[in-house]
Amino acid sequence: MNIEQLRADTPAVEHLIHFNNAGAALMPRAVVDTVVAHLQREARLGGYEAAAQQSSALDNVYRSIGRLINAQPDEIAVIENATRAWDMAFYSLPLRAGDVILTSNTEYAGNYIPYLQLKQQRDIEIQVIPNDDQGQISLSALKALLEDERVALVSLPVIATNGGPVQPIEQIGALARAAGVLFLLDACQGVGQMPIDVQKVGCHMLAATSRKYLRGPRGMGFLYIENSLCQNLEPAFLDLHAASLQTPDSFSIRGDARRFENWECNVAAKLGLGAAADYALAQGLEPMWQRIQHLAGHLRECLALIPGVTVQDLGALKSGIVTFTHHRINSMQVQQWLATQAQRINVSTSTFSSTMLDMQQRGLPAVNRASVHAYNTEAEIEAVVSALARMPVA
Ligand SMILES: Cc1ncc(COP(=O)(O)O)c(C=O)c1O
Repeated sequence: MNIEQLRADTPAVEHLIHFNNAGAALMPRAVVDTVVAHLQREARLGGYEAAAQQSSALDNVYRSIGRLINAQPDEIAVIENATRAWDMAFYSLPLRAGDVILTSNTEYAGNYIPYLQLKQQRDIEIQVIPNDDQGQISLSALKALLEDERVALVSLPVIATNGGPVQPIEQIGALARAAGVLFLLDACQGVGQMPIDVQKVGCHMLAATSRKYLRGPRGMGFLYIENSLCQNLEPAFLDLHAASLQTPDSFSIRGDARRFENWECNVAAKLGLGAAADYALAQGLEPMWQRIQHLAGHLRECLALIPGVTVQDLGALKSGIVTFTHHRINSMQVQQWLATQAQRINVSTSTFSSTMLDMQQRGLPAVNRASVHAYNTEAEIEAVVSALARMPVA
């Protein structure tokens, strides 16, 4: 990879060490330029007129996302964030009393709450797939659970918001397919970080966001729905873009994945999402993933040498999200200390309530999250580690 070029494309690295790519990564110049150019177009021409002028560029956004995850453009809906994209898929599923959802203990609260809501409203059952001894879900346990005919859905994140393992999604997908069970993949932390090919994974639905490892603008995300499933799923919300009136008494829903969209959206950010997908593809998904794993591995090794610091990541395969705790200093204070360094260092804090099942099981109230991207460097890792080693312990 051409790291110098990656950094030249990311001007903020001059004054910032940004290890919060799992929160929102730094946008490359190409993405910023695309968004700003469209805002200027809107100011010059009018919002509707600017969108009309960019209609083929807007169609290309679906092609770019399709290339990113190996899907067809008509299997993609562009939606304002991963949560809403995921919701649109989840709430369209015809889940009934007694149906079982299988999830992981790393499930994100934003997804777990809807499970609980349907448990209350429709009496569905939630079962958490046990982990194996390395901390990722146990494939043999999943296989056994899938023998229960009541299982209607497997739904989990490939990478959790609080780090931990990269789940073996291709094996999970194969098991779900073999059992005839739908698989909804939360790829929010995965897309842009690692190659995700929906044909290989075999997921029926996938939700992702723009601003994290994909390096797109905020307030954007997308949903993938497999073509053969799409027309059987009726969105919980419809508008005049997802459907059209046929007579004063009847409507028809569009046939492609855009039935999960709504009409009004941030057009500049949508174009920015397309530019981010193109940028990631141009860098190469596999080389970026290799570099992210290399940097994260190096960071974990260095952190483990600092007295009082414990690296908290589990899993046979680990991602670019590195989590740690300090035995005397709480995570918010660690985050603040790093932010006050001469060259500001951005890390974040992942709290108990975002991934409650996992944090409860491990007895962790919070962890610091240092999430690295391909544009980060070994020198930045050394600066972070040295700042942590200098941290005053009260
Ligand atoms: C694993 C996971 N899923 C879903 C989300 C929600 O994404 P968004 O904020 O774009 O809705 C997040 C955000 O942190 C996440 O980490």
